[in-house]
Amino acid sequence: MRTISIMSRKGGSGKTTLTVHMAINAYLRGEHVLIADIDPQASSADVLKARKIEGPGWTTSSGSKLFALQTSSVRAGFSRLIIDTPPQNEDEILQAVVLSDLVILVVRPTFLDMAAAVRSASIIRQLNRRGLIVLNQAPVGREGIEPPQVVRAMEALPLLNLPIAPVIIRSRAAYQTGLATGRSAEEFDSKSTAAAEMGELLAYIETQLKP
Ligand SMILES: Nc1ncnc2c1ncn2[C@@H]1O[C@H](COP(=O)(O)OP(=O)(O)OP(=O)(O)O)[C@@H](O)[C@H]1O
Ligand SMILES: [Mg+2]
Repeated sequence: MRTISIMSRKGGSGKTTLTVHMAINAYLRGEHVLIADIDPQASSADVLKARKIEGPGWTTSSGSKLFALQTSSVRAGFSRLIIDTPPQNEDEILQAVVLSDLVILVVRPTFLDMAAAVRSASIIRQLNRRGLIVLNQAPVGREGIEPPQVVRAMEALPLLNLPIAPVIIRSRAAYQTGLATGRSAEEFDSKSTAAAEMGELLAYIETQLKP
């Protein structure tokens, strides 16, 4: 089983969106997926509750219960444990990070997100975990020209000293509409640009899960 944490100390950066998309994508590829939602807001759980069709398993949990959950998930035959973390409460986040094979750090292209990511990245490095930065909610460029804040973010991200995902997730309505009914962008509209870009990102992340 591979354990993945989705982390960002800024609220609203896209942790839950990425958690749910990753879980559904893996589920559709035949993985046995369990989402552990340790955010008291329980947004991943809310999304999955709204789902009317078969999908990944989910449970609410907390940092202190994660080790036991990880052990029981292995015994239950799950192949993916995906942990959606809260923006605050460092202790909770640390417990998720420590147990993870891969920690995904979600960052929006804003100064405050980047500032918060510096500490998150150093936690991932200090705990000797494999990390991956995903730039989310990037504005769409016009006529092939990248918006200046995305250019600035791509220049600054290497300072975090963690690998950066080669696919940028843009700000697109399709990421919001599907989640209202517990579906991924792919399930909502398989021909959408969102489905294509998220599919590309998740395929890349899968390559990072190899031991
Ligand atoms: N790429 C995107 N394009 C458009 N909207 C997005 C995108 N990513 C996230 N959102 C929207 O931004 C809001 C916050 O996203 P989400 O809940 O996934 O963030 P979060 O990091 O889990 O927040 P919290 O810190 O509160 O747990 C939601 O309304 C979501 O639909
Ligand atoms: Mg969330």
